[in-house]
Amino acid sequence: MARIAVVGVGAIGGVIASLLHLAGRHQITLCTRRPLGQLNVRTPTGDVQVAATNLTDDVLASPVDWVLVATKTYDSEGAARWLEPLASTSGRVAVIQNGVEHRERFASIIPPDRTLPVIIDCPVERQPDGLVIQRGAVKMNVESGSLGSEFAALFDPSTVTIDLTDDFLTAAWRKLCFNSAGALSALMLQPAGILRDPEIGHTAADVVNECATVARALGARIDPDIAQQVIDGYRAQPFDSVNSMLADRLASRPMEIDARNGVIVRKGEELDIPTPLNRLIVALLRAATHNSSTNSSA
Ligand SMILES: NC(=O)c1ccc[n+]([C@@H]2O[C@H](COP(=O)([O-])OP(=O)(O)OC[C@H]3O[C@@H](n4cnc5c(N)ncnc54)[C@H](OP(=O)(O)O)[C@@H]3O)[C@@H](O)[C@H]2O)c1
Repeated sequence: MARIAVVGVGAIGGVIASLLHLAGRHQITLCTRRPLGQLNVRTPTGDVQVAATNLTDDVLASPVDWVLVATKTYDSEGAARWLEPLASTSGRVAVIQNGVEHRERFASIIPPDRTLPVIIDCPVERQPDGLVIQRGAVKMNVESGSLGSEFAALFDPSTVTIDLTDDFLTAAWRKLCFNSAGALSALMLQPAGILRDPEIGHTAADVVNECATVARALGARIDPDIAQQVIDGYRAQPFDSVNSMLADRLASRPMEIDARNGVIVRKGEELDIPTPLNRLIVALLRAATHNSSTNSSA
């Protein structure tokens, strides 16, 4: 049995909580901003009602063995407030978010040797009524080592796939290559089908290649044909697939612009590698978001 807190119980946090519930032996605390009620998760193999304690105030939190952070990256500051009482003196923290800066986000509170970066692939969404609908299998990628093995063991005996990798840098940047192209969807307010357009496909490939160049300079081993892999991946999706940046923009929420494209620009600057397309995407998305909030408050 482990005492486990999930911070951020949206789509990914909901699925993670259901997997921990199915493991059948943990004390689960769900840390949310608003009272949660019963957490129900519809998985491909049936509905799960998660048995857990719900906390909405970090003042009431006490130390646990593991904290699993599953907020959006733009909510990391709020998530960090939970880490103080839950894990600042002991306990391990798994950061289940997109991007490549999992450790850096919480480095002021949790030392790197107690932080485990996690990449997750799982098509899942949370509906307005709170129901979490998981539409496919969960696959996670974590660094190999004792922390990664301990994390994977939390989910035994479920059938979730957790790959332990010696080369997490490559795994994280490879995923970022895929995510970098998704920003075009958010920019154009168009679902994945827009990447079937030949010109948009070319542009997406250029966006991905900027990301891959930065990744390789940092030591990631990115396939030479990564851009084509990414384009093929988007084109294989249903025409109306909506990625999370587009979903956030459509819902007037912040977007993970900095974690997904901003980081390519920032790391590129450090390495003297030009990333003009990613820079343009970041600037346009920021301006579009800023202008829409300015207009709506006018
Ligand atoms: N969804 C997917 O299919 C998917 C797939 C792969 C990777 N990811 C990545 O996984 C991460 C999580 O994404 P998601 O889709 O699960 O996001 P999400 O559905 O928006 O859920 C995030 C949750 O975090 C909560 N939250 C924010 N600040 C908080 C705070 N201070 N304390 C407690 N809870 C807080 C939000 O609460 P409110 O309900 O109050 O807003 C929301 O319920 C992201 O980095 C995303 O890119 C997602």
